Amino acid sequence: MLSYEPSDISHKDFHQILLSGVAPRPIAFVSTIDANGNCNLSPFSFFNAYASKPPVVAIGPAIAAATGKVKDTWKNIMETKECTINAVTYSMVEQMNLASTDYEYGIDEFVKAGFHKKQSTAVKPPLVEESPFSMECSLINNIELFREEGGNGNIMLLRVLRLHVKESVLTDGKIDPRKMDFVARMGYKWYSRVTPESCFECAQPRVKGIGFDALPQYIIESTVLTGSDLAKLAGVTAIPGVDNDWLQTQIVSTADSFEIELQTNNPAGALSVLTQNSNLNNRSNLYHRVAQSYLTVGQIQEAWQTLFLAERK
Ligand SMILES: Cc1cc2nc3c(=O)[nH]c(=O)nc-3n(C[C@H](O)[C@H](O)[C@H](O)COP(=O)(O)O)c2cc1C
Repeated sequence: MLSYEPSDISHKDFHQILLSGVAPRPIAFVSTIDANGNCNLSPFSFFNAYASKPPVVAIGPAIAAATGKVKDTWKNIMETKECTINAVTYSMVEQMNLASTDYEYGIDEFVKAGFHKKQSTAVKPPLVEESPFSMECSLINNIELFREEGGNGNIMLLRVLRLHVKESVLTDGKIDPRKMDFVARMGYKWYSRVTPESCFECAQPRVKGIGFDALPQYIIESTVLTGSDLAKLAGVTAIPGVDNDWLQTQIVSTADSFEIELQTNNPAGALSVLTQNSNLNNRSNLYHRVAQSYLTVGQIQEAWQTLFLAERK
């Protein structure tokens, strides 16, 4: 395991290691207007949402470590107190990257990078028409980070005045992450793309689960069940009782081989093969694999009953 304090390595190296570990980061594509009415558009991945009532987001425009130059975005927001923040999709990445060029103050990156402007309603800076999700924001406060010791960071706290979402990214009226095609910033030159295949659901617990420490020893010590499997078992509010009739409800007459049933996510089929073939070896392990398959398809109670069977064998 490598470990560093900031003073151990160069600022450049520490910066890249920090940003590789704090990843993936959403990208705020920030549009601002200067006091003379010139537009500016730049990406910032020091960005997140911190509250929803009232809605507060923050970006972190740095002062260039080498030159001491402040970002045009920072200057404009300090002057006019307004910006829009637009999400970045995969089809926007190359143009967004071009817009991150350090153009002279007053140069309009909408023009340089070929983005289209859409009128905002609550602030003067325009929205990026290509983006499926945009926010109109006003400055709450700028926090200077450690200037007394040469710090180059800022946190600009911004209040969200209005949201815009394109209908094309909705499913049943809700934003569907599989339709956003978002990109996120990693370390060095890396980005990641959110594809439908990379999205999954994991509902936050609404009840107090029993926890790992309450799981029976033979389950904790399973050589089959993973940490994720154990977490699903430990999410129940109480260890269920043994249901002696349960096995009968699971038996199917058309089961194929044990392995095929498991591969096709059919734990009941695998369990049927297992219970009807006394010549299968290492039975405890096989029961644990069936339980794992039940967990995979979201049948937690069935997984518990299968593990009770394993313990009885
Ligand atoms: C994806 C991406 C994310 C970036 N994130 C930040 C950031 O969070 N803070 C920062 O100071 N610069 C960041 N940069 C660099 C700025 O976009 C760049 O310095 C830009 O020229 C600033 O423009 P401005 O001076 O017109 O505001 C990022 C660049 C890219 C490509």
